[in-house]
Amino acid sequence: MGINIALTKGRLEKETIKILERAGMDCTELKDKGRKLVFQDGKEEIKYFLVKSNDALTYVEHGVADIAVVGKDTILEGSKNYYEVLDLNIGKCKFIVAAMPKTTLYDSVSHIKIASKYPNVAREYFKKRHMDVEVIKIEGSVELAPILGLCDGIVDIMETGTTLKENGLVVLDEICNLSARVIVNKASFKMKQEEITKFIDKVESVL
Ligand code: PRP
Repeated sequence: MGINIALTKGRLEKETIKILERAGMDCTELKDKGRKLVFQDGKEEIKYFLVKSNDALTYVEHGVADIAVVGKDTILEGSKNYYEVLDLNIGKCKFIVAAMPKTTLYDSVSHIKIASKYPNVAREYFKKRHMDVEVIKIEGSVELAPILGLCDGIVDIMETGTTLKENGLVVLDEICNLSARVIVNKASFKMKQEEITKFIDKVESVL
């Protein structure tokens, strides 16, 4: 039985392909993809497709993909109806709280607004601190929001810290470390146990 694997395109793409190649998978098509979205490894009977991170979760939850490689940031923000089986140790970054310098976020008595691409993560973080904040969902370049006065602070991912620095923002707190994970559809794990275990073992052996 063949398996379908959703790979997150963008940041994680190159490093994921490197790992797959080291694990002996044929990634010729993936490396020279053009505008193609589905790729076949004939030898291993694996079909790969490249998707946005949130969609990777959706495809796995619906069983269209048996496996996906996706960032822990997406996992923490999204639904959890799948098995998380492997940490690939790539795409390492952190969830952080940041703001313009001298922002007194934690002892503020006034209404606090937080912008984030990760509203659930942001809400949970402040709830744990018994802080009642308004979370505003932003789709990208979140650093812009406090600069323009949309919010008091942001919850976002930081990799090198360059974007924060170049836009004059400072880190107020580090929430947790993040990296790419392998997730598996629950039913696939039973139905295609042999193929999935083989794939995971191969990948694990080169980490
Ligand atoms: C992410 C994140 C930061 C930036 C951090 O955005 O939201 O903006 O990367 O990286 P750095 O610490 O290395 O500077 P991404 O590049 O994914 O784009 P987006 O904001 O358009 O989603």
